[in-house]
Amino acid sequence: MLQIRDLHVNYGAITALHGINIDVPKGSIVTLIGANGAGKSTTLRAVSGITRAQKGSIVFDGEEIVHLAPHKIVGRGLCHVPEGRMIFANLSVMENLLMGAYRRNDRKAFGGDLDYIFDIFPRLKERKAQSAGTLSGGEQQMLAIGRALMSKPRCLMLDEPSLGIAPLLVKTIFEKIVEVNKNLGITVLLVEQNANLALEISQFGYVLETGRIILSDASAKLREDPQVKECYLGG
Ligand SMILES: Nc1ncnc2c1ncn2[C@@H]1O[C@H](COP(=O)(O)OP(=O)(O)OP(=O)(O)O)[C@@H](O)[C@H]1O
Ligand SMILES: [Mg+2]
Repeated sequence: MLQIRDLHVNYGAITALHGINIDVPKGSIVTLIGANGAGKSTTLRAVSGITRAQKGSIVFDGEEIVHLAPHKIVGRGLCHVPEGRMIFANLSVMENLLMGAYRRNDRKAFGGDLDYIFDIFPRLKERKAQSAGTLSGGEQQMLAIGRALMSKPRCLMLDEPSLGIAPLLVKTIFEKIVEVNKNLGITVLLVEQNANLALEISQFGYVLETGRIILSDASAKLREDPQVKECYLGG
């Protein structure tokens, strides 16, 4: 579904990505792990067109998207939930969810999609009139995922959904990621520092270190890899 080839990104004189390759098969969950500053967010930003690549190719569903504008990329069904969530703090939960659907013209289907989102995240239903800025961090993460789902993505890229969230809620959020992958058939590219959980729910994983992929394998194998164990799974 998504093929990243020889992707280079520079920020001025700093090279953030030195030609990386990543494959995300249709219907799978693939995880990208790496330390702070490794280039994980840069990778997602380049795929969604927010950050321009200097070199390389990004093929989504058989078509080159590396030169497309971000709104065109979203329009093709590739949705990015950025780090820090970026919800609209002054809008209500419901308004935020509807913002996710702004590019759709099948209003009749919104009701069913909202029902599905409220079904997987009941907390959002209870708080649908609450202003989003007053939600807890974990609830804001649920809202960011819910809003992304309202765009009817075929592929969802999640940037550290566990960041700053209590372990119990992280587990819930990861269960929901698996659920939308299974039930809605949404392909997922997951960026995480919580390598343990991420490798548990994904089929394949990549390890990024200072802008280079240093390891890639089936997630189950990566969990047994001595280097991964030492550096990313706490020994
Ligand atoms: N807009 C920018 N201008 C200059 N340098 C940047 C910019 N954005 C990122 N960088 C640099 O690029 C490198 C990769 O950053 P990136 O945000 O992709 O890392 P990350 O793996 O997501 O890290 P973290 O786990 O801390 O979120 C870092 O060294 C960062 O300082
Ligand atoms: Mg990041």
